Amino acid sequence: MIHLIQGDITKFEGDAIVNAANSSLLGGGGVDGAIHRAAGPELLQECRTLGGCPTGEAKLTQAYKLPCKYIIHTVGPIYRDGNHGEAEALKSCYANSLKLALQHDVKSIAFPNISTGVYGYPKQEAGQIAVQTVKEFLSEHPELEVWFYCFDDENYRLYQQLL
Ligand code: AR6
Repeated sequence: MIHLIQGDITKFEGDAIVNAANSSLLGGGGVDGAIHRAAGPELLQECRTLGGCPTGEAKLTQAYKLPCKYIIHTVGPIYRDGNHGEAEALKSCYANSLKLALQHDVKSIAFPNISTGVYGYPKQEAGQIAVQTVKEFLSEHPELEVWFYCFDDENYRLYQQLL
């Protein structure tokens, strides 16, 4: 089942949250910065052991001071013009995060709007890819609960329409 909420993903009390990270996995701004601040410095220590993460892939860490159990770090594409594999990469972020979640027995997971901040992905297109990819996955794994955490008003309104 899919749920929609407007708010700060670090408050999510389910099993896992997804981080819109960069390929170093060593922190940054936006939701990545918020997650590192709320989880505490042990998160960065664990991230340093992971050796980064390619675009479209996902890696899992503990969640430390956050109320969830795990953080799944995925690296969205930097949007250029839409002709550089951005859509495939963004789809992979959602699909690979969901696969990794299942491997760790995650029953509830929250996603931010990956790539729609600093990475400049057009919000409407990104939302369509996110919703479609999650729906495809849920058709195979209907027991999973997925939350879309929209932070800005524009994404929240878009997701209200998409869902
Ligand atoms: N909870 C949920 N969503 C949030 C929060 C929050 N606390 N804070 C921001 N957002 P961005 P990207 C939303 O820029 O575009 C970082 O520096 C925000 O409104 O965080 O994938 C990384 O280290 C937007 O809709 O991620 C990378 O270098 C969405 O999160 C780079 O930014 C994603 O915006 C990744 O860029």
